Amino acid sequence: MIDSLFKENISEILEHIEDGIHVVDSNGKIIYYNKFAAQLDNINPEEAIGRHILEIYPSLTPQTSTILRVIRTGESILNYEQSFRNYRGKVITTINTTIPIIANKKIIGAVEISKDITEVKKLTQKVVDLQAELLSDERLKKRRKESSQAVYNFADIIGTTEIMLKLKRDALSVSHSPSPVMAYGETGTGKELLIHAIHNASQRKDKPFIAQNCAAIPETLLEGILFGTVKGSFTGAENRPGLFELADGGTLFLDEINSMSPNLQAKLLRVIQDNIVRRVGDTKVTYVDVRIMTAISTDPRDALMKKTIRDDLFYRLSVISLRMPPLKERQDDIKQLCKYFIDKYNKMLDKNIESISDSAMDFFMSYAWPGNVRELEHAIEGAINIAEGVEITLRSLPYYLQEFYKKNRQRKIKATLKPLTETVSKVESIMIERALRQTAGNITKAAEILKIPRQTLQYKIGKYNK
Ligand SMILES: Nc1ncnc2c1ncn2[C@@H]1O[C@H](COP(=O)(O)OP(=O)(O)OP(=O)(O)O)[C@@H](O)[C@H]1O
Ligand SMILES: [Mg+2]
Repeated sequence: MIDSLFKENISEILEHIEDGIHVVDSNGKIIYYNKFAAQLDNINPEEAIGRHILEIYPSLTPQTSTILRVIRTGESILNYEQSFRNYRGKVITTINTTIPIIANKKIIGAVEISKDITEVKKLTQKVVDLQAELLSDERLKKRRKESSQAVYNFADIIGTTEIMLKLKRDALSVSHSPSPVMAYGETGTGKELLIHAIHNASQRKDKPFIAQNCAAIPETLLEGILFGTVKGSFTGAENRPGLFELADGGTLFLDEINSMSPNLQAKLLRVIQDNIVRRVGDTKVTYVDVRIMTAISTDPRDALMKKTIRDDLFYRLSVISLRMPPLKERQDDIKQLCKYFIDKYNKMLDKNIESISDSAMDFFMSYAWPGNVRELEHAIEGAINIAEGVEITLRSLPYYLQEFYKKNRQRKIKATLKPLTETVSKVESIMIERALRQTAGNITKAAEILKIPRQTLQYKIGKYNK
């Protein structure tokens, strides 16, 4: 039954999906296999259909195969990372979601949707390996200090408004503490900049600074990256230190921490509380001394309410919490930021822009800057590239800002213009009232002063309710 259902109705759609899709019956026999799954496994669909799943994936067992587990238990497995050797011996890593197919309360098969993350995994592991190499190689140590991972200092954080001065004072005063720091604020407000500056002002400044973005990396992959792996713990696993081990003595910056899965957040909390880390699949543990700094771009209360961050982890990580004000709350810093970025991009692009026109600056001061300092920086970079002469004008700004400016101006003009009849009526009404006051309510005399026929005035008095 399930066989014909798939053949007739859904297979055509599934052929065009860029994820691997397998359907097996209750005996583990493959009954459907889309084109993408066939590519993943490097096997012809005709060769696979009708054969048992373990024949096609010889490196899996009834215990490790998610499909067979789902058929046995009837319970879905969501977003599970699996590494296997395909039919031709290549190690493939996928993120799988496997769901039982149930009819008349009986499990009649299972469907598995697989996303290929082999390349993503290779690249992220390469980054970890390079970081390990960089940290261990004596010759590179000096270079690390110069070109190092944490490149910004407090002097690079521009802003002299009271709100910024206080932020910098607070950040500087906590730089020597080992307590975790959480920077929160809208995108482009300088969270990463501030975290760098704190590390560079701390006693750990000559120790590693390692940054890891937690968004868009599958849970199990991120787990291996953070805590390390041991050879043989799963297919394709190597002996690799995690970022905790690599950052020992220094700082680990976890960006977009609220994107991390709750499960991994729980594991992270344990590592932070105990200061010990265990590589995935290992039995022994390593003591680590790492200062954790994190950043989130949403309001922490929102993140807590939506449960994108576990409250136990949140309270641990936000021992020191620093709010980055959006640019619209510190407009008085805009001029100074503009000057700073003009200098920066003049040097970088070999230009000699001297100033910003008054109208462009007026616009800068009234614009809301949803992308904050990053948006301002790129607007100036773009303008310096195309400005003619020595001044940045409205016309040298990025196109989307010019459009915004034009629309806004039209809206303002519209708001000040009222229909002519409305204004005329208002003036008429005022003049009639004055004339009547002057003639003590004598309509004939008032009409003479206004130089209109008496009947017309009579009519208008009625109209304006005088
Ligand atoms: N106060 C500042 N002074 C100078 N440059 C700044 C300042 N704040 C931010 N920038 C610059 O703006 C850009 C964005 O900053 P950063 O990456 O620190 O922002 P973020 O808050 O981490 O943003 P996101 O949430 O998008 O990751 C960087 O190029 C940074 O150098
Ligand atoms: Mg950032």
